[in-house]
Amino acid sequence: MQVLHTVAELRAALAGQTGTAFVPTMGNLHAGHVSLVELARQHGQPVVASIFVNPLQFGAGEDFERYPRTLDADCARLATAGCDIVFAPAVSELYPVPQSFTVQPAASLTQDLDGAFRPGHFSGVATVVLKLFNLVQPRVAVFGKKDYQQLLVIRELVRQFNLPIEIVAGDTLREADGLAMSSRNGYLDTSERIQATLLQRELAAIRAAVLSGERDFETLTTTACRHLKMAGWRVDYVELRDAENLQVPTPVSQQLVVLGAAWLGKTRLIDNLDFALPTRA
Ligand code: PAF
Repeated sequence: MQVLHTVAELRAALAGQTGTAFVPTMGNLHAGHVSLVELARQHGQPVVASIFVNPLQFGAGEDFERYPRTLDADCARLATAGCDIVFAPAVSELYPVPQSFTVQPAASLTQDLDGAFRPGHFSGVATVVLKLFNLVQPRVAVFGKKDYQQLLVIRELVRQFNLPIEIVAGDTLREADGLAMSSRNGYLDTSERIQATLLQRELAAIRAAVLSGERDFETLTTTACRHLKMAGWRVDYVELRDAENLQVPTPVSQQLVVLGAAWLGKTRLIDNLDFALPTRA
């Protein structure tokens, strides 16, 4: 496996490749990322993973500085997962001048949920992903469903800019107790770690209620918020949406997703569960 740090090295290594499968990451990799690399291997070759903590997608007061940088351990994991090339540029390599041209994703996709609580976040994500796509020129790129709103923003980026890239979604990997794997789980102390499964349990309860016929979505999400608050969480949102476009579900919605974001102490956790409504007989 090659570990490359410059744009020139990356372009040279990928010259002439037409079947590249790409997994963009911010490093501090866990089994969830490994599963994305394994998924990428099924879709193309060479497999390229990027490791870049993108300053553009962090707001003031967010965790850009404390986001864990663990390049050596990440490379060891990627090598065992079957990655061929790691691209780990410095900030000055990817942003040699201040990035004054940026991608502004459609408000309809980013004005609420995480977009409402992290202004500018999806512009930062879309901008860096477009840059990385231009550098790697993959045939396929793999993104985790854990960041569900991000996945939809990237699908739309590819569609509206006519990028010849297939976006493949990887399922969220969970710890044995159901907690979605995330680099930010490492911020949790012992008692927060035990508490952390509550978000997923509340989302699962909403899914179960909807699947058994409940249609008062407002009451379901409000109840989940109340349970989280009673347990000491600070809730950003719990919402049930159409999984295709993240709009409020309509009577014709077939695929739904229940999404939540909430703070446990100083750590913001997000999670979601997507599911199909049973077709009516
Ligand atoms: O999901 C992430 O880790 C990041 O948002 C991404 C897609 C690598 C862009 O920085």
